[in-house]
Amino acid sequence: MTTTYEANRFRGPLNAVVFAVLDGFMDRLLRARKRRVYVDLPDEVVELGSGVGANLRYLRPGARLVAVEPNPAMHARLRARAERHGIELDLRGIVGERLDLADGTAGMVISSLVLCTVSEPEQVVAEVLRVLRPGGRYAFVEHVAAPDGTVLRRIQRILRRPWAWSFEGCSCERDLRSVIEKAGFADTEIESYRIRSPFVPFNSQIAGIATRAS
Ligand SMILES: C[S@@+](CC[C@H](N)C(=O)[O-])C[C@H]1O[C@@H](n2cnc3c(N)ncnc32)[C@H](O)[C@@H]1O
Repeated sequence: MTTTYEANRFRGPLNAVVFAVLDGFMDRLLRARKRRVYVDLPDEVVELGSGVGANLRYLRPGARLVAVEPNPAMHARLRARAERHGIELDLRGIVGERLDLADGTAGMVISSLVLCTVSEPEQVVAEVLRVLRPGGRYAFVEHVAAPDGTVLRRIQRILRRPWAWSFEGCSCERDLRSVIEKAGFADTEIESYRIRSPFVPFNSQIAGIATRAS
């Protein structure tokens, strides 16, 4: 199992710039779903792969964010943005496959566009379940494989390698709905939908909330 992360010398910093530049545009694409699943976020949230802070706008000022972000090139922007939003940031340069949080201690975990990039999505979701306390929630907005036989699925396959090269190993061909549904949550509510964006392979998406048994 790969539980380490090494940012590429060029693409690591480049991805930080790309996500900072595209921040407003990406938020407009995903806002409707994020508002639905990041509803009533508590005062303490754990986030997987926070990047440059796309989801800070969904936290209340004064909230505490435990941000799991292994790419050091993201850190300065994330810190600056947390300060601007009045978020208390506890930044951890670790991977989601091995969270340094105790069992059953988190009330809320969130992620967006992260399970596509981690090395072991099943292990990351198992870690989420481990650290959530009884009744705790995992809210996510992720992009996934389009249904087999569709044109979009074919495009995802054709662009597999250049896409992964550009976005630090990102895959548009993961069935993340199954990964989450099989992880052992007591309840999972997942919506599958398609967005319209120029980043065609990422247009097939899921958003939802998975809840640990009380
Ligand atoms: C596509 S970016 C999304 C960033 C942010 N969540 C957003 O919505 O803009 C994926 C993020 O996951 C991070 N990441 C990559 N591998 C990871 C891992 N194993 N565990 C946690 N985060 C990881 C990357 O460094 C990057 O910040």
